[in-house]
Amino acid sequence: MRLSGECALARRVVWHAQTGSTNADAAALAEAGAPEGCVVLADHQTAGRGRLGRSWSSPPGTGIYASVLFRPTPRVARMLTIAAGVAVAEAIENVAGLGPVLKWPNDVYLGGPPQSGRKVAGILAEAGLSGGETWVVVGFGINVLPGSLPHELAARATSLDAELGRPVERGELLAACLVRLAERYGDLTEGRCPDVLDAWRLRAMATFGRAVEWDDDGVVKTGVVRNIGDEGGLIVDTGSGAATVVSGDVRWL
Ligand code: BTN
Repeated sequence: MRLSGECALARRVVWHAQTGSTNADAAALAEAGAPEGCVVLADHQTAGRGRLGRSWSSPPGTGIYASVLFRPTPRVARMLTIAAGVAVAEAIENVAGLGPVLKWPNDVYLGGPPQSGRKVAGILAEAGLSGGETWVVVGFGINVLPGSLPHELAARATSLDAELGRPVERGELLAACLVRLAERYGDLTEGRCPDVLDAWRLRAMATFGRAVEWDDDGVVKTGVVRNIGDEGGLIVDTGSGAATVVSGDVRWL
């Protein structure tokens, strides 16, 4: 398959055969005044970062490790992580023909809903302020070959090649991710935020109605997932009304 499309991103592209973390590199570029749309790519990360202080396994030749710099308004910034999850899921669907499911806020799963499927991609958004302007780096990691995964994660994570039973072209998938990300970012900046939310909801439908627990300021709370709200928070029905989870993780019960 050949991919083509408009891509407002990738105004500057930095490639590393090896780096610590593309998110850290992109954040440094942001602080140095680099323009929106800069992309940092690596074949190998030695200190790949995951959400909530976790690490992201990034051995050479096995995955996609990419970070994109945005300079969004505060309203758009709140929705960027949701839009990025949609974009990566759409790119995987376009290139590999698989139907990824999203787990709030933006984990990408294959082989069924997150309760029974396995994680294939993750997104880490990190924000800062320089010169009075907010910047957001959106980093995504996709497990393409089985070697991208550490053994201890084999039961909970998967790779595209393992799911498909044939190789996926990393360059084609990366190009698709950047094109979809540019389009979904355009949706946010041009007032089509409801389209992004609807696309996210369609891919997360299998998680609605499921019981979850999460940490709220050190207190473990439980409830049943209802939906996501218009600002991207997860709405959960608890015994005492609806709660909106805006950060952290939820765990299935
Ligand atoms: C997660 O699911 O915990 C998020 C993982 C995000 C990993 C990507 S790989 C490219 C970018 N650089 C990093 O250091 N992390 C992100």
